[in-house]
Amino acid sequence: MAFWNRRKALDVAAHFDAHSRLKPTLSWWHLIAMGVGAIVGTGIYTLTGIGAGLAGPAVILSFLLCGVICACAAFCYAEMATMIPAAGSAYTYTYVGLGEALAWIVGWSLVLEYTVAAAAVAVGWSAHVAEFIRAAGWPVPEALLHGVMSGGILDLPAVLISGAVALMLISGTRESATVNLVLVVIKVSALVVFVALAAGAFDPAHFHPFAPYGFGAHVDADGVKRGMLAAAALIFFAFYGFDAVSTAAEETKNPARDLTIGIIGSMVLCTAIYIAVAGAALGASTFKDFSQSAAPLVYILRLLDHPQSAEIVAGAAIVALPTVILVLMYGQSRIFFVMARDGLLPQSLSAVSERRGTPVLMTALTGIVVAAMAATLRLDEIALLANAGTLCAFVAVALCVLVLRIRAPEQARAFRTPLVWLVGPVCIVGCLYLFLNGLPRFTQVWFLIWNSFGFVVYLLYGARKSTLARKAAG
Ligand code: ALA
Repeated sequence: MAFWNRRKALDVAAHFDAHSRLKPTLSWWHLIAMGVGAIVGTGIYTLTGIGAGLAGPAVILSFLLCGVICACAAFCYAEMATMIPAAGSAYTYTYVGLGEALAWIVGWSLVLEYTVAAAAVAVGWSAHVAEFIRAAGWPVPEALLHGVMSGGILDLPAVLISGAVALMLISGTRESATVNLVLVVIKVSALVVFVALAAGAFDPAHFHPFAPYGFGAHVDADGVKRGMLAAAALIFFAFYGFDAVSTAAEETKNPARDLTIGIIGSMVLCTAIYIAVAGAALGASTFKDFSQSAAPLVYILRLLDHPQSAEIVAGAAIVALPTVILVLMYGQSRIFFVMARDGLLPQSLSAVSERRGTPVLMTALTGIVVAAMAATLRLDEIALLANAGTLCAFVAVALCVLVLRIRAPEQARAFRTPLVWLVGPVCIVGCLYLFLNGLPRFTQVWFLIWNSFGFVVYLLYGARKSTLARKAAG
């Protein structure tokens, strides 16, 4: 059978050997915590300022637009995750719905989402830590606080946090999820404190003019793409993470109930928090002021003369941003794990440790790659590249929902996307629109280069060695 026609069976979860199954240890509250843990992070704590600089107060519409697109994607993920409760998220759904070649492209794109985004958050975390180190006067050389591409030698804090998170994941999923829950409470509480204090200084005059750079996306004379839509293509970074919840499908006790509540609950909660934070920030200060700051929420609290609260919000970011790295790395190690189990990557990598019930080798490899990227790369531009990978995965998942509604209408679905013929196309068109019109040209080109390289790897290895290819060859 030609590789583009190879598809996994719909009851994919029933086909694994006992020794390569993951332990079901998670329930819905672990998943909401995991979703919020991945979603609320660098996006709201730092990109709110840059987004406001690209769109002015209209950035609130950028948040709304991303919220609508991601809510549609969340419905599609919930339907697929409950219908196919196997690890691998968008990659596995695409393998079932659209075939092996497209599944490879989605899996390869998810590397951009999870690994690049995890590295970006590690670098963002390191920048906050560097501020603390400087303020405390500790004798750490500047060259060890920046990666090579940012004028230093090594971003040491970013490497240390990437390694620490990988070790937590290796030590067992449940332990990691419980630590995650505590940190999630801290970072959400800090955002609530911010909204409460900033709302007291709300001035509607800050919302005029509302869209100084227009609603579309255009490249200005300085080469920067601005407008509400361009801000949305960046702010999109703040929204994903809920999809990482679906990578835990195989490890949930009651997939139908737990995944539905976990994915949709975390998405809705975060959209509400973001709009409140963005609205409070825009009402409390002129956007031109706080868009210059790498820590816009802290900046606004200082401006409003709440220095102690500013420190609390900054401290919460340092304590809690690692939860984002944790969930993204978790998602990445599970995607690699499933791709190896399917024979698209060397299968020896997919072994599950009998004692811990986790894919130790894959998790360690993911940690090393994230640490290497975080040690060297620049923060700007990689967030956009991570967005490109995620937009691709969202399009694939919505397509799978529609294709399977036609191909397997009788198949039991514990969760059915409401108004699927509206929600699915809104997700597909919205993501393609953000990709084609919102992302800068260099991001689109790098995405194509990454996937062209990936497809060569697939043709040389996975297309011949995949489990389905071997079965077909007898
Ligand atoms: N949504 C995650 C963040 O904002 C990736 O950091």
